Amino acid sequence: MNEESRRKIIIDTDPAMGTKGGDPEDCFAIMLAMNSPELEILGITTVQGNVPVERGFSNASYLVKELNQSIPVHTGRPGTFDKERNKKREWLGQREQMEQLTPIRPLEDDDKGAPLFIVETCKENSKEIELVTIGPLTNIAQALEIDPELSKHVNKITMMGGAATVQGNVTPAAEFNIWADPESAANVFKSGIPIRMVPLDVCHKTRFGREQLNTIKENEHPFCQFVQESVDPWLKINPNKNIEDQGLHLYDSLAMALSLFPDLAEYKDAYVTVETKGEFTDGETVCEFNESIMGQIFKPQPNAEIALDIDVNGFNKIFEERVLNFLLNL
Ligand code: BDR
Ligand code: CA
Repeated sequence: MNEESRRKIIIDTDPAMGTKGGDPEDCFAIMLAMNSPELEILGITTVQGNVPVERGFSNASYLVKELNQSIPVHTGRPGTFDKERNKKREWLGQREQMEQLTPIRPLEDDDKGAPLFIVETCKENSKEIELVTIGPLTNIAQALEIDPELSKHVNKITMMGGAATVQGNVTPAAEFNIWADPESAANVFKSGIPIRMVPLDVCHKTRFGREQLNTIKENEHPFCQFVQESVDPWLKINPNKNIEDQGLHLYDSLAMALSLFPDLAEYKDAYVTVETKGEFTDGETVCEFNESIMGQIFKPQPNAEIALDIDVNGFNKIFEERVLNFLLNL
């Protein structure tokens, strides 16, 4: 594939592979992108979420270095978009007790910071960049605050986030990436940027299990041993009680796969708003398909296409070819 025809993306992520006890799955999604000749990754930006932002910055930088890539990595800053919210989510920036496997890269290493990098790169490549967001949306909301015109320059957002017709995973109402910073998510849905939303509804159809990790472990390459050491504690925590045995959902890898091959899913347009004032429902993604009574009357303009079904075998094949086989052949 020639340089010109590759699609340009920026990956915004909260990668925990490298921090024991964090959800390591973002890094599989990043590897999927790195092994996709259809894509040109212009940058990786890190955000507070699965791990405090300094650890995510360190983990992403390690991944890029170990896999011999020359992709710039920029980091967001600790905290959420809204100061009041930050009081409730402060603990996301703490969790110092987690064992760190990758060398800590201080935030001061990055003068520019993720939001400004996003603004500048999207304007330099106007209408060409897709943001693939696989963490909370703080950096994107801050980028929109720096330059409200940014929305005109971004081609699309493919977002792992939300729950459309099923319950949440962090609370019954909310999915983690939206719940971690609901005000940011609300601003992004209001921004006018076309959004492809990849919610729990479809992510729950994916699975990575102990048997796959065992195969990776058989490769003595230091990077595979690192993957094993990072993923093993999360499988033991086994937070996805809807998966049999130990396993994790490939939420972020699915979003990356749908950025690459949108036809792997079926979509329905919706007007999505985010609950920011709910006593029990903060971070809920309220998806109006214009089928409710109010929806039929007022017909709000859709702001997202929502993946509601996927070709599971098609996704598994891509994951196997571009992530598992890549690791097995290191
Ligand atoms: C999302 O939260 C994190 O645990 C995963 O990395 C994914 O992005 C799923 O709710
Ligand atoms: Ca993530």
